Amino acid sequence: MKRILLAALLLLPLGLQNMRAEVIPSDEMRRVRNDFQDRKFGIFIHWGIYSMLGDGEWVMHNKSIDRQEYAHLAGGFCPSWFSAREWVLLFKEAGAQYVTFTSRHHDGFSMWNTEASDYNVVKATPFGRDVLKELSAACAQEGLPLHLYYSHMDWQRADYPTGNCKNLPHDPSTTNWNSYNAFMNRQLTELLTNYGPIGAIWFDGMWDHPEEGFDWGLDEQYELIHRLQPRCMIGNNHHGAIHDGEDFQLFEQDLPGQNTTGFAPDQQMSTLPYESCQTMNSTWGYSITDKSYKSSAEVIRRLVRCAGMNSNLLLNVGPRPDGQIPDEAVKILQDVGTFMQSYGKTILSTRGGCVPPQPWGVTTQRGKKLYIHILNSEKDGRITNEGLEQVEGRWSLLLPTGKYSIKSVSRMGGSTLTFRNEKGGTRIFLPTRPTTDVTDYILEATLN
Ligand code: GLC
Repeated sequence: MKRILLAALLLLPLGLQNMRAEVIPSDEMRRVRNDFQDRKFGIFIHWGIYSMLGDGEWVMHNKSIDRQEYAHLAGGFCPSWFSAREWVLLFKEAGAQYVTFTSRHHDGFSMWNTEASDYNVVKATPFGRDVLKELSAACAQEGLPLHLYYSHMDWQRADYPTGNCKNLPHDPSTTNWNSYNAFMNRQLTELLTNYGPIGAIWFDGMWDHPEEGFDWGLDEQYELIHRLQPRCMIGNNHHGAIHDGEDFQLFEQDLPGQNTTGFAPDQQMSTLPYESCQTMNSTWGYSITDKSYKSSAEVIRRLVRCAGMNSNLLLNVGPRPDGQIPDEAVKILQDVGTFMQSYGKTILSTRGGCVPPQPWGVTTQRGKKLYIHILNSEKDGRITNEGLEQVEGRWSLLLPTGKYSIKSVSRMGGSTLTFRNEKGGTRIFLPTRPTTDVTDYILEATLN
């Protein structure tokens, strides 16, 4: 700690004062980040006028849809079944602890009554309702913090300078960074002034301009956010190194540190809280054809794996254009809710346990309680008992040696189990072999 303080003090005269926000968070921000980590499970909502085309939130770019033509979608946006309260009640039933909403995605359409542009859900649609206002009221009523996704990239506005996403190039003569930057900061000011406390701003799209020398103006933008709402966290899905002022680190479709997507080959693990955002099927925004939903058990295992890796899971839903959440997603959320009702205490307010992830699963921990989650993996609908061993005719697992010792252990809600210390660690004997019908076979150990 002393070393960090000293480093920060040495950096101050160099004009790097903004380092302080990252290196030494204030006590208040420390508490905010801690509370965020306790929450463990959030719901991501991708919803906008793109939902009407039923082909994901990238449809405008992927199909190179003419800007004027795309904008006409707004004239037909009238989600007759939209009820923010019903959404929020469903998320609560699922055991979710916060909600992240796409206030403005890459297509540039704002889902609130912004004064900065008429291209928004109140002024440009027959619906005419401020979706964000309704959602923030419903979240406040149910005590769920609201986080806001905000795209740095914009395919619609003529002042945004096109970067890597070249399907809809802007005429360079109309681009104007200062004007676009001022627009974003004006919108962020509204979001942080008119919608109550905002838990986090979740940026996305910076990878459109990875080239050196392109200045996204983050220092100024982050300072603005923290000035308007000092307790509002900042996360940025830039897939790269943490920028000063960010409060949590994001991982897209991957567990912390993994790069199965190829999005983040150079992403280093920071010391900030982690959040992994993941879809239930393969698309974020509503897709009418994508039925590749994971099983409820698989989604639950992802939540547990995240917790065991000290990360939150931000689980996505892509509501339909009628405002309803697809049936498959509702079913998954209800199943997660059933799990959370019985076993939420092994996830919420825990941290990654003292035993790091193992082939058989992960551990979570709260004080002297260590929760051992045997997850294994699902292959062809069957659980493989990877990492478990049959010793003396009984199924068992080995917790590798570490700085801990076990006082007692039992199956969650069940009988006491036998264990013994041996060369490579502590061997726990299981009463039965974990089977396919058990999503997460949990043991509860008390540490000395
Ligand atoms: C990607 C996509 C975006 C999506 C986001 C969610 O960055 O560009 O469409 O909203 O991931 O993580």
